[in-house]
Amino acid sequence: MKKLLSSIFVVVLFSAFTFGSNPLPADNSFWSKVFSRLSEYQLTGQSKQLPLPYAYKDLEPTIDAKTMEIHYSKHHATYTKNMNDATANTDNSAKPLFQLFTEIENSPALVKNNAGGFYNHLLFWTILAPESGQAPKGELLRAINESFGSMDKLKEAFSNAAKKQFGSGWAWLTVDEKGKLVVSSTPNQDNPLMSTSEVRGIPILTLDVWEHAYYLNYQNRRADYVDAFWKIVNWKEVGRRYEEALVAILY
Ligand SMILES: [Fe+2]
Repeated sequence: MKKLLSSIFVVVLFSAFTFGSNPLPADNSFWSKVFSRLSEYQLTGQSKQLPLPYAYKDLEPTIDAKTMEIHYSKHHATYTKNMNDATANTDNSAKPLFQLFTEIENSPALVKNNAGGFYNHLLFWTILAPESGQAPKGELLRAINESFGSMDKLKEAFSNAAKKQFGSGWAWLTVDEKGKLVVSSTPNQDNPLMSTSEVRGIPILTLDVWEHAYYLNYQNRRADYVDAFWKIVNWKEVGRRYEEALVAILY
């Protein structure tokens, strides 16, 4: 009996040490530390849109110039203004956005939706490029093959997530807490950086599946827009983001 009690004590002590005093990898303190190592950590709730790295017409025929113009100069501009207005003169004005995202359940919906809208579009613009036949290389390609089996399998999983997201939202390729690649989707302007997200991590590739992103050219044919998207992915930038995320997570 004494031996049994002693064994139980050891198990309880071990559990308390492992799950209590030592944070599990996916908790907020882990993500706060990881996010602080990323170059975009400097973004706050008082931020400006960055210039597009190409002209509105440069993504044609996949995304038409008018859609890009409205998307960037109206939709993204509005999220940016609303985020700045919502965080002005509050505790959130100087806080890094990534920090805000780790505790997003404490923010009003106005802040969550507009800070999400600001960052999601900022990321989206960078991972697009004029059609050039780019493909993943190096460490990113190795990770895609390891996590999904092949590039085609990644495309299938990501495209399904984008096509099946009910209503407005986003599809994501994310580096998780173990440095593995995972595919997911989120509703509204949520993203995997947020503490409320089912799949958490550092997103490196995304697709906007709000109707404002494709309706002028594709109308109700979201699937055609998703399939065409692969022609204009900036794999060089996705690879850079993958390597930065991996270093932030593993070191
Ligand atoms: Fe959008």
